[in-house]
Amino acid sequence: MSEPTALAESAAPNSLIYRVPNLLDRIVWTDVFPKSQPVEVELGSGDGSFLARWAEANPCLNYLGVERLIGRLKKLDRKGRRLELKNLRLIRFEASYLLRFLLPKSSVSALHIYFPDPWPKRRHQDKRLVNTAFPQLAEAVLVPGGIVWLRTDSVDYFNQMLEVFAAETARFERVETPESMAAVTTDFERHFNGKGIPTQRAGYRSLRTI
Ligand SMILES: C[S@@+](CC[C@H](N)C(=O)[O-])C[C@H]1O[C@@H](n2cnc3c(N)ncnc32)[C@H](O)[C@@H]1O
Repeated sequence: MSEPTALAESAAPNSLIYRVPNLLDRIVWTDVFPKSQPVEVELGSGDGSFLARWAEANPCLNYLGVERLIGRLKKLDRKGRRLELKNLRLIRFEASYLLRFLLPKSSVSALHIYFPDPWPKRRHQDKRLVNTAFPQLAEAVLVPGGIVWLRTDSVDYFNQMLEVFAAETARFERVETPESMAAVTTDFERHFNGKGIPTQRAGYRSLRTI
């Protein structure tokens, strides 16, 4: 095969950062990961404190971290290379565009969304990633039975998450976050928990069977 389309965005020759070849075609997972295995995606992965540890714990799954800030992405890139993770790749991109237009349909085993920007001002709330359009977009990229995992510190945003999924009971059922996963905390989670603010958590499994 010719040089992989996984072009390094940083100078590091073995960078885990994948650059999408264009903005029109959906990603092809075999171009991204060296091994074909189920893929999970974290939208807004930050510095990847969850993703690096979770990918290390689950070598039989592939993990894609999506983050728009290059500094955070590079930090996760360094972490992943230090841990020699073969199943982790990163994309610098706008999460909602990627979800809507670039993730391959019916191909993602889980979407992890942890401490997404809360947009607390009422006039900004339409910018929230988990909005009324989200369940349908998530369903389209998830494999049958795929799961959306959510965490936030914001009670208001959490209530919005519960509401949008409560309106989609034909598409999703609520599931509990496994202890082993909840134990792997994120950078923002530790920050909020340290200030006495608890994590609000929910999981939603797609009811689609084909
Ligand atoms: C509050 S931080 C949480 C980071 C990480 N999930 C954690 O819990 O530590 C939200 C992250 O999402 C990223 N982000 C926000 N909106 C985004 C978007 N539309 N596309 C991609 N990344 C986004 C931010 O740059 C930031 O790193």
